[in-house]
Amino acid sequence: MARDTSLFSGRPSELIGRQIAGYRIEREIGRGGMAVVYRAHDLRLDRTVALKLLAPELARNDTFRRRFTHESRAAAAIDHPHIVPVFEAGETDGVLYIAMRYVEGSDLRHLLDRRGPLAPEPALRIAAQIASALDAAHDHGLVHRDVKPGNILIARGTDSDHPEHAYLTDFGLTKKSLSLTGFTTVGQFVGTLDYVAPEQISGKPVDGRCDVYGFACVIYETLAGRPPFRRDDDMALLWAHQYDQPPPLTEARPDLPPNADTVLAKSLAKSPDDRYGTCLTFVSALREAMTGDRPGGHAPTQVALRVANSAVAGPKQPPPWAQPVFRGGWP
Ligand SMILES: Nc1ncnc2c1ncn2[C@@H]1O[C@H](COP(=O)(O)OP(=O)(O)O)[C@@H](O)[C@H]1O
Ligand SMILES: [Mg+2]
Repeated sequence: MARDTSLFSGRPSELIGRQIAGYRIEREIGRGGMAVVYRAHDLRLDRTVALKLLAPELARNDTFRRRFTHESRAAAAIDHPHIVPVFEAGETDGVLYIAMRYVEGSDLRHLLDRRGPLAPEPALRIAAQIASALDAAHDHGLVHRDVKPGNILIARGTDSDHPEHAYLTDFGLTKKSLSLTGFTTVGQFVGTLDYVAPEQISGKPVDGRCDVYGFACVIYETLAGRPPFRRDDDMALLWAHQYDQPPPLTEARPDLPPNADTVLAKSLAKSPDDRYGTCLTFVSALREAMTGDRPGGHAPTQVALRVANSAVAGPKQPPPWAQPVFRGGWP
């Protein structure tokens, strides 16, 4: 079935201008370990979409196909302002595809690579939006399992109170579905191991708290500029997630109050029982630790004043993280 792979394995330029399942491919947006994402035109509804074509080897994996169908449906059923809406998921010529809202902007991976760690306020704003998306998914019985900066898309927000709008994407596409261990047949893990929870590694049943862990790794990196664990090889990294303590966030960000270390340590606990029960309780605790703000609102604490003052007075040469996320142009 030579046609099966032709959609995917051809040079990206070969697909430009072609029609696939009612979508005309306009240009490649990017590619991850398992898929290529294109900007495309939905010919039926005359609108721009992001069309994701999954690697043909995934379509051949029955477990993956079942999960893909099940979870794409479940994700499409969630109507949430911070989850990328899925318009359609299906199969054509042996290739699985997903059509979803095209998010004009950047993903958090690119943002961190280009700009370095974020200042506390944008980091907390993005964290709160993604936390509400994850909690909503968990309420629907969905566990994301692949929370990572590349799956967080950041678009321009509506106004100065909401400078950015963050979306979570890629439910049901976890590499874990490739096999029980998450390794492909050639023994290579597809994708990053920076955000994988200890219980995912040991093959225990997972629930929403595995996303609390992955999400906490992402927020750690958003603030520190590096994930909680960095090791020379994959096995050492898997070991670290299971047995090592993450270095305190304040090692990388001495400007943040030590209470933030306590909150991160709890959200990165090895046992799910020791973590926050939801992503939003984690973010509320982090906000309180970093700014003194409680959801109910009360007078600022000494810590909040210290953070606020340092932000106002600031160093003469502001560090990179002190720059706004959107500085004039697009990141
Ligand atoms: N709905 C979307 N709108 C715009 N860009 C998207 C959308 N979905 C994914 N992308 C971009 O496509 C690229 C590849 O995505 P993906 O294949 O999921 O890889 P990964 O998640 O591993 O980065 C990413 O850079 C991402 O920013
Ligand atoms: Mg992705």
